[in-house]
Amino acid sequence: MWHMLLKIALLSLALEQSSRCGAASTYNNPSSNARHFPSDFMWGVGSSSYQIEGGWNADDKGESIWDYLTHNNREKIVDQSNGDISADSYHQWRRDVQMVRELHVTSYRFSLSWPRIMPGGYMNHVSTAGIKYYSNLIDELLKYNITPMVTMYHWDLPQRLQELGGWTNPEIIPLFKDYARLVLEMYGDRVKLWTTINEPWHVCEHGYGVDYMAPSYNFPGIPAYLCGHNLLKAHAEVVHMYREQFQQRQGGRIGITVDTSWPEPKNPDSAEDREASERAMQFYIGWFAHPIFSKHGNYPKVMIERIRNMSKQQGFGSRSRLPEFTPEEIHRIKGTSDFFGINSYTSNLVTPNGHNNTGKFPIPSFNHDMGVVESQADVDWPGSGSVWLKVYPKGMYNLLMWIHREYNGPEMIITENGVSDRGGLEDYARVDYINLYLSAVLDAIEDGANVKGYITWSLMDSYEWKAGYTEKFGLYHVDFSSPERTRTPKISARVFGNICKTNTIDWSFRPKLNEEQLVASARLPAEEAAENGGARLKWSLALLLSVVLAWIHC
Ligand SMILES: *[C@@H]1O[C@H](CO)[C@@H](O)[C@H](O)[C@H]1NC(C)=O
Ligand SMILES: *[C@@H]1O[C@H](CO)[C@@H](O)[C@H](O)[C@H]1NC(C)=O
Repeated sequence: MWHMLLKIALLSLALEQSSRCGAASTYNNPSSNARHFPSDFMWGVGSSSYQIEGGWNADDKGESIWDYLTHNNREKIVDQSNGDISADSYHQWRRDVQMVRELHVTSYRFSLSWPRIMPGGYMNHVSTAGIKYYSNLIDELLKYNITPMVTMYHWDLPQRLQELGGWTNPEIIPLFKDYARLVLEMYGDRVKLWTTINEPWHVCEHGYGVDYMAPSYNFPGIPAYLCGHNLLKAHAEVVHMYREQFQQRQGGRIGITVDTSWPEPKNPDSAEDREASERAMQFYIGWFAHPIFSKHGNYPKVMIERIRNMSKQQGFGSRSRLPEFTPEEIHRIKGTSDFFGINSYTSNLVTPNGHNNTGKFPIPSFNHDMGVVESQADVDWPGSGSVWLKVYPKGMYNLLMWIHREYNGPEMIITENGVSDRGGLEDYARVDYINLYLSAVLDAIEDGANVKGYITWSLMDSYEWKAGYTEKFGLYHVDFSSPERTRTPKISARVFGNICKTNTIDWSFRPKLNEEQLVASARLPAEEAAENGGARLKWSLALLLSVVLAWIHC
């Protein structure tokens, strides 16, 4: 027991020892005044089909690339799990809507599973059950005045289309358009807020460039750029179709959601590090946002030039690995988004990749092309339940201001932001995270950024891709061992609900577990309860230490 405690204490010390007095005191902001959001600010909570639905082969649903990956390459998933049942939202959707209502949000962002609607990816087979599932969900939300914000594609491609090469095959463009036309016909009378594709960078680089997300091609430097090229064209075709055939009649809006961490220059006084930060933004966000949101369209200049130069040096001849758009295509893609959807969770420190490939990236690869080395090794930012996610609210401010400047003040909706832990209901770390990130969002709004909404990730604990069920992002806890996948609000659900209801960050609102939560807490599976106890102890020690350290330093 003492051994354990000592270990935890040392761990906390390691995590917290470098807390600056300033940082430590802003991280617990009890003395700051309440802060208010504009009265028309949109509040939402998000989820995605594969992560929550389960029912992987219910009715006539087809196989997705995530079904395929998790069934055939279990070893790639941290806990060898899959989303076959997950939170079972295919059956528990009424309870989901109840939770959305409890949070006082005005919007619920969820995604449609393409293979649930078109099992083989083609329109020769449309699933009546699949169509009905989302129709019911949409009606239930509307019954309570909650705006459905619907993502057409959140990573679960029909496996059959992957066998054709997925997003690397230009055939995906008309196929995605057929699928989009069907869902616009089915739901567009009721859905007024659409996004085409969630996080293109993840779809392309993590799916095709490295062995990370399905389909796990692990083929660096070439197919990710083909994927991006087709994806941008498919997105643009769907937006044009919506504008020409649906928008006037249905009166909705459509956009895209891109994602990035904020690349903080490792040494803010170094021009090279600041350049690396700018280049990282152009490669992560600009790859997809520049063609759509910039004045002249097309890929960012730095991306075009660097990849062309490197392709030549690497012996690819005069054809760049980054495909070229024709002037007509540039024109057709430009302006195809009614708002700028942005997902962001964390920040990294960045510095240039040296001449000798200090980052040791494969050549060629996206990372080598970008020429930036990222790390979180020497930061004093608090951690989370995910190794990649550290808490640095200023990064959110910097990111929003960058987008504001770069793309001439677009309307922005934060479509995902949130933090993970390893379980339990007393998620005060999530409460702190949400308060602090929202405060950073308000700072950006006060400095002119046109941020119109904030959608937190996630409604409930769910299947966290390759992390399986080990990392929890939910405002609601899900008991994955119970047949009905019982959902219980965490502390953060009550705090976020209060923010949405009052349009205000109230730093002092830190409720304790209520009756319902205490009962549910007692029923947590043993290992999660232990995790929770450990985390609680760690946080208490961490807080104690930051207080002591702050006291010593100040
Ligand atoms: C690409 O190569 C050209 C010609 O050598 C050079 O002028 C330019 O600066 C290079 N661009 C980048 C971004 O490396
Ligand atoms: C790169 O490697 C070469 C050969 O090993 C060495 O001579 C050179 O100093 C290195 N350059 C840098 C910037 O580290």
